[in-house]
Amino acid sequence: MRRPCVITAAIFALALFVGACSKSSEREPGDFERMRIQQRDEPYAPGELFANNERLRQPPAGTVSRESESDTGAIGSGMQAGRMTAVVPLSITPERLALGQRKYTVFCAVCHGAGGFGGSIVAVNMGAPRPPSLRSAAMAAKAPGYFFVIATHGIGRMPGYAPQLTVEERWAVVAYIEQLQRSTTTPPEARADSLRALGIRRIDSVLASEQRR
Ligand code: HEC
Repeated sequence: MRRPCVITAAIFALALFVGACSKSSEREPGDFERMRIQQRDEPYAPGELFANNERLRQPPAGTVSRESESDTGAIGSGMQAGRMTAVVPLSITPERLALGQRKYTVFCAVCHGAGGFGGSIVAVNMGAPRPPSLRSAAMAAKAPGYFFVIATHGIGRMPGYAPQLTVEERWAVVAYIEQLQRSTTTPPEARADSLRALGIRRIDSVLASEQRR
């Protein structure tokens, strides 16, 4: 009759263990309570710690709000009367187009290609959804506001570029993309982009037809 004795001892040990565990978890609410009741300041309450008698610190001069642009009309939001702005709301000067080209080359070409064909090295090495061509008929049919909104907020896998590009720079990029869409030539720096984009499209169509089978 040794077995039942061992089993009883095991059950007793288990009960002790469970008891010890539940006791330690009972102490937790007390610890949270200690955090809740500690001294703290209400954000908008007056206070004597700083010279301006406010608890909150003022943001440094020149701080740019990332939220405030969304309600500043067509220029700030890319929207007008609830729709994507149909024209670039800043005058398109040669200087602005040059600015757009510079910013496009730094911030967009790495993924969408130097000519906007979507044949960048990044696109080649990425799985779907890849950075698309910005020169397809479907893209050329989009309103300028569409490109501004996406450059601002991003879409899917693409991040927004509002922290890196000012409102004017984003519109300059949009104006430059429109110029790319209208152009009928492929300058040397965009040729590799154009050729790689053809290769990517061929690979993607083969993959798609394999998937359908
Ligand atoms: C890090 C890579 C990357 C960079 C840099 C980038 N994009 Fe994109 N972009 C993408 C990807 C990937 C998509 C597809 C997103 C998805 O569908 O998930 C995309 C989608 C887009 C689309 C939407 C096209 C459609 O199908 O409607 C536009 C417009 C666009 N990008 C414009 C820009 C502009 C303008 C810039 C520069 C300010 C830029 N992108 C920079 C990767 C990038």
